[in-house]
Order: sequence, then C-alpha cells, then structure tokens
Amino acid sequence: MGLKDKLMELQQKALEEISSAEDLKKINDIRVNLLGKKGPITEVLRGMRDLPKEERPNVGSFANKVRDELTNAITERKDRIEALKTAKRLEEEKIDVTLPGVPVKAGQPHIIMQVIDQIEKLFLGMGYQVVDGPEIEEDHYNFEMMNLPKDHPARDMQDTFYLTDNNLLMRTQTSPVQARTMEKHDFSKGPLKMISPGKVYRRDTDDATHSHQFHQIEGLVLDKHITMADLKGTLQLIARTIFGEEREIRLRPSYFPFTEPSVEVDVSCFKCNGNGCSVCKDTGWIEVLGAGMVHPNVLKISGIDADVYGGFAFGLGPDRFAMLKYGVDDIREFYLNDVRFLKQFSQRG
Ligand code: PHE
Repeated sequence: MGLKDKLMELQQKALEEISSAEDLKKINDIRVNLLGKKGPITEVLRGMRDLPKEERPNVGSFANKVRDELTNAITERKDRIEALKTAKRLEEEKIDVTLPGVPVKAGQPHIIMQVIDQIEKLFLGMGYQVVDGPEIEEDHYNFEMMNLPKDHPARDMQDTFYLTDNNLLMRTQTSPVQARTMEKHDFSKGPLKMISPGKVYRRDTDDATHSHQFHQIEGLVLDKHITMADLKGTLQLIARTIFGEEREIRLRPSYFPFTEPSVEVDVSCFKCNGNGCSVCKDTGWIEVLGAGMVHPNVLKISGIDADVYGGFAFGLGPDRFAMLKYGVDDIREFYLNDVRFLKQFSQRG
C-alpha cells in the first residue's frame, strides 16, 4: 500500500473515532495519540525517506492536509462536546421562578432588651450617659462603696455568689458601676447623670418570681441642689414611658443602705386604672422600683464633698417591668429561649 493510501485509511479511521468520542477526556486522548510525536502520522512521514525524491513534496503536502483536517475535526468535536455539556447543565439547573419562595424568619431583640432599649432612649434624651461595668466585681465596689461594710446585716438582703475568695463576686446589683463612675467624676465638667443597665446575680432558688440571674437598670444624678422633687419627676417619667401616659406614682418610705431617705415606688395599676384587680391585688397600686437620695456616706467614700453635692438614685428591674406589662407570670420564661414564647413580643406588633 502506498503512503497516500495509508494516510487515507488512517484518516478514515481517525474521523470515525473522533465523531464517536463522547467526552473531553476521550477527545484529548485521541489528539495526543494521533498527532503526537509517536503517533501514526509521524510514523507514516518517517517512511518518506524511502520514497523517490520527486514524490516526496506531493506526499508531504498530502500528509499535512490530513493532519490539518484531523486537527480541525478534533477541535470541532471538542466544541460540540462542550456545547452539549453546557446545554445539559442548563437543562438540569432550570429554575422555576414561579415557585413560592421560602419566607425568611427575621429575629428581634429579646423582650427584656426591648424594655432596656426603651428606658435607655428615655434617659439618653435627657442627657444621661449609659455606662457599662464588669459582671465579676470586687466586694469593694459592689458593697463597701455602697455603704455596706463587711458584716453589715443588710448584706443578707442580697445573697451573693462569691468567687475564689471573699473579694471577688458576681455583682448583685449594678450599683458598682455608679461607684466606679462617681470615683472618677469631675464636677467642674458638669453634673453626673448616668444609668447602668446590665445583668446581676443572686444566690436565689429559681422559681416563678426569682431567678439567680436577672437585669437591673440603676440611675444616678449628682449635682448641687438636686431635690427629692427631681427624683419624683424622673420616676414619674419612667412609669409613664413604660406603663402609659395616665399613670400616677406614689412613694412609700423604705430602707436601702445607700440612700437616705429611701423610698419604694408604686405605680397606679395599668390594668384596672386603680380600681382594684388581680394584678394589683385589689390595692390599685403595683410596686415597681426602689429609690432614694444618695447617702452622704456613699458620697464621702467616693471622695465627693457631701456638703456641696448630692442627688438621687433609683434601681429598677426590666424583668419585673416586662412581667407586669405583658402579664408574664413566670420569670423563668425569659431565660428558656423558647422562640414560641419570645416571638409574641414582636416589635412589629
Ligand atoms: N441596687 C438596689 C437593689 O438592688 C436598687 C436600688 C438602687 C435602690 C438605687 C435604691 C436606689 O436593691
């Protein structure tokens, strides 16, 4: 068989192989085998050495033609395989844009955080600063600076989680944040007006009305000429912001080691408007927070001249506020993180 015939036969066979190739790997293998240095075309061309000189150009150009045609056929087949692959993928990935979407569940601040936010907004609007402090606290700030020296009987009012020694504890109130701020305050720059919201801890057995961890917001105002009337106006604003514009408050004498005089604050019942119902236990009033005029000892311990400066402090429980406002009868509900419970208090109503 002449070289030309050999080439034609080779071309014929190769074209069949190319057109039946189904994937890119196969077509690549064909290309490497057919056109590579050890491939059959190179092999045929090597046989040209034995041909008479005058026939060589003819056979040579024929061989080049065959190689070009096969190269084109391979490229075309490769393009075709790729196009088929793309078409198949597009078919498989077809999206039905008319299907209803999966609704995205939006979260919301926890109900306690909503109450805290509301109170923060109120006080920021009146020029108070919102101050944070450590939850692991020193006895010094949590008690001593609040006029509660060691062995003071009123320490029993706040069952305490002590840590490694008797000096470090889980704060039982957010008052230590006031202590830390008072200590640093420079009255030449203006009065001290602050609230400190945060978590507090007490060694209570959890039940419907007690939790070993709950929240407090304490407020403190110190300046010259602050009176109990300023305190009463501020407390009334809190009560009306949380429980409604119609609310009245009343103050009853009480005792806290860090205030003198001290008061307990009742708000007129928002359920029955003071007529008597189960929420206010038929009294028309609900106790909501504690407050008083800052005790001179507290000022002195912080290095403040108690003859010149004075003011008021109050402490309230966002947990209790939320329970009252929304009729939640078990404080533990707030800490179970059951979304079915929490989503009832959507801000979007
Ligand atoms: N820290 C007090 C408590 O937990 C609350 C309070 C603060 C009362 C300020 C009066 C004044 O009992």
